[in-house]
Amino acid sequence: MIRTENLTKVYNGKKAVDSLNLEIAEGDIFGFLGPNGAGKSTTILMLVGMIEPTEGKCFINDIEVARNPLKIKEIIGYLPEDVGFYGNMTAEQNLDYFARFYAMDATERKKRIEELLELVQLDGVSQKVGGYSRGMMQRLGLAHALLNDPEVLFLDEPTANLDPEGVFQYRELVKQLSDEGKTIFISSHILSEVSKVCNTIGIISRGRLIARGTLEELKKEFGRVGAENQKIIVETVEPLPEIEHEDIISAEYSETERKVIIEAKSDIRDYISSRLFEKGVRVKEMRMEEPTLEDVFMSVYRR
Ligand SMILES: Nc1ncnc2c1ncn2[C@@H]1O[C@H](COP(=O)(O)OP(=O)(O)O)[C@@H](O)[C@H]1O
Ligand SMILES: [Mg+2]
Repeated sequence: MIRTENLTKVYNGKKAVDSLNLEIAEGDIFGFLGPNGAGKSTTILMLVGMIEPTEGKCFINDIEVARNPLKIKEIIGYLPEDVGFYGNMTAEQNLDYFARFYAMDATERKKRIEELLELVQLDGVSQKVGGYSRGMMQRLGLAHALLNDPEVLFLDEPTANLDPEGVFQYRELVKQLSDEGKTIFISSHILSEVSKVCNTIGIISRGRLIARGTLEELKKEFGRVGAENQKIIVETVEPLPEIEHEDIISAEYSETERKVIIEAKSDIRDYISSRLFEKGVRVKEMRMEEPTLEDVFMSVYRR
């Protein structure tokens, strides 16, 4: 279990993480979602004990991180945003180097490293790490994070720069690790990534947690928050004229100009209808749509 209590980090008088209160249950795959600079990496660094909070506390399995850094190291795995390995060594040599920090004898290390290289599909790669692609580096980073068979795994932007196949493999791996009972904390600025693998989500913006819940709960929350915000989709036979109304927040026209997605503060369907009728533009379809997680995200971001 992961828990933070008013967790705060101040850099140069600015709160990078601001009174964060989080509770993540054992076995959860938690998605920590937010734009660049929101405070995701800083939060993770405090959770893994690599930097100290300015204020507040964090706990993993009820152990306070800042007071027990060594104990924490034994139960967590951490994939940093930018993984770094020795370029003149192979994957196996790199992992063996890091495995020496854990209490494992040579035979144990060898066995564990073989297992892990197979898991991340780097077994049989004799190439030195310096020549690795970004995706291979990321997979080696994951193997490194799993060396001590951690109970809790922190992955900071794990899919950044992975190719589609790499992303797919990573997702499968996360599911497999979750099935083994690990608690997984994933940070990302990519909504679709989080919504595909995570069962609970927290949205962070400017250091503050601004929404928290399951995908379903967040969608509902958006429904409430955006009760005045409507998403109206109009498809027409003729190209659309520009539609102006003071309640329109945004209007996204398709390339063919025969479809527009309007976000408005009120239900302006009647207004749109009469405006199109006036211009002799025939309506093929006009509908209001359920908010997607993307909408939730955008709405929460704008607040
Ligand atoms: N070591 C640091 N020194 C000063 N400011 C930092 C440092 N690390 C992060 N920050 C600032 O803290 C804020 C949050 O950064 P970060 O946690 O890296 O965000 P994210 O991972 O969500 O992109 C940013 O404004 C960033 O510039
Ligand atoms: Mg970051």
